[in-house]
Amino acid sequence: MTFKIQFKNEIPKNQDALAIITYENCDLSDGAKKLNQAEKKIIDRALSSNNQFKGKSGDILILNNISSVYPKIVVIGVGNKEECDGLAFETVGGKLWKAAKNFEIGSLAIDILNIKTNSKTKKEELAAHLAMGMTLAAYSFDKYKSKKPDHKETELKKITIVTEKAKEATTLFNTYSAIVDGVYLARDLVNEPPNTLYPVSYVQRIKDELKPLGVEIEVLDEKKMAKLGFGALLAVGQGSARESQTVIMRWNGVATSKSKAPIAFVGKGVTFDTGGISLKPGAEMDLMKMDMGGSAAVVGTMKALAGRKAKVNAIGIVGLVENMPSSNAYRPGDIITSHAGKTIEVLNTDAEGRLVLADILTYIQQTYKPKVVIDLATLTGAIMVALGFEYCGAFSNDDNLWKQVEKSSANTGEKFWRMPLDEAYKKEMESEVADLKNLGSLGRYGGACSAAGFLQHFIEDGTQWMHIDIAGTAWWKSDKPTTPKGGTGFGVRVLDDLVKNNFEK
Ligand code: BES
Ligand code: ZN
Ligand code: ZN
Repeated sequence: MTFKIQFKNEIPKNQDALAIITYENCDLSDGAKKLNQAEKKIIDRALSSNNQFKGKSGDILILNNISSVYPKIVVIGVGNKEECDGLAFETVGGKLWKAAKNFEIGSLAIDILNIKTNSKTKKEELAAHLAMGMTLAAYSFDKYKSKKPDHKETELKKITIVTEKAKEATTLFNTYSAIVDGVYLARDLVNEPPNTLYPVSYVQRIKDELKPLGVEIEVLDEKKMAKLGFGALLAVGQGSARESQTVIMRWNGVATSKSKAPIAFVGKGVTFDTGGISLKPGAEMDLMKMDMGGSAAVVGTMKALAGRKAKVNAIGIVGLVENMPSSNAYRPGDIITSHAGKTIEVLNTDAEGRLVLADILTYIQQTYKPKVVIDLATLTGAIMVALGFEYCGAFSNDDNLWKQVEKSSANTGEKFWRMPLDEAYKKEMESEVADLKNLGSLGRYGGACSAAGFLQHFIEDGTQWMHIDIAGTAWWKSDKPTTPKGGTGFGVRVLDDLVKNNFEK
């Protein structure tokens, strides 16, 4: 991101473009009042002669040289007045950013004075969400391009959002920026190639990003994990030349009872998943660099919480391994012993994520006794068969936790669909020769549910738990208004919102 966003009470002079808002049916907002009669007439005519432009959310029309003051006038639709909430304005922001980029606008003032909001949204929230949408849309991952995309003279450099609540919006956007930083970090981690992001380098990255914000970092290397009996996680990593690592991140935002964290986030961090000896097919195997998307969401969330100094004690734990085939790799048929003491028959080395999670789920519950545990993982292809790329699948043993997450999902636009936990899925994961097996008897049928059933064997009585399968949502192949294709950073926003609304003092 290369631009600066500011909030002002008045429209600054000398802007390349002025953006004004229109509601549905081309009902122009008061922003248009800044223009003279002749200019307004041109806009009205342009709007009425354009069949495509209806003032729906994200509709955009750009008019050149009609104003004596602004070389370009951008008319942007925000849809129904009653639906003007933060999320709608993020989408508007994303689309506006893209238009500004495509039309080579260097400085843009967006007039949202006298904007109508729905009853629950404050004006400053709309303004700050508009800015957040633009920032989220502006993400790009080009560090490995030796030729950087042309930074043209005209590239968008300055955005001024004009609102009567400029001061309040500035404060609010400071907080939102911390969340965007968390999302950016999660995206960066997922986009990073697997030759540079492997367990040990990932640990360093976590330290570099989080330590300066005051997050305590503890690392368990293979020696420590072996002593603790992390037999499941270590089995997955044993075929790789890269050493496996577990990282614990502690954010103590509340001074009292430091060691007590009410909430823990757990992430699958398979930096590359070849499938191991149960090797994956070659097509698109490169995408398996994103198999650490769950861990990226956890690290990104910790960055967001620390960045905005959330008044909460939260813990993150990520299990970082590379799943490789080699003469030292674990095999189908192996029986391994987890940190919880339960033995597991390995039937497919590609069902490795659940093995990694099993050990760190046990560790976090035994060490910190959190009330709530939420794990995120790109766990199964089956969740993509069920839900595609739009929704993640969420499994929870606690209706209240589900309600809280459902609310945060609505607040942030990260879509969650509740999936079932059932004794039958747990039972399906019992082995004839060990306590458990890592592949359900029904194979791919209900694969996301049996995977969750496997994890449930490692959840202690009394722990409120949610497992979030983000295999379909951690990586997108096409752009959305506020999410460029590639690593999405999915999960950071919901978790941050969940903490804000339910766990902060
Ligand atoms: N990392 C994969 C799941 C995945 C697939 C994530 C596609 C993102 C995109 C996981 O480790 C895996 O391979 N799961 C297997 C489990 C099966 C062997 C029981 C699967 O889903 O096929
Ligand atoms: Zn796998
Ligand atoms: Zn995997």
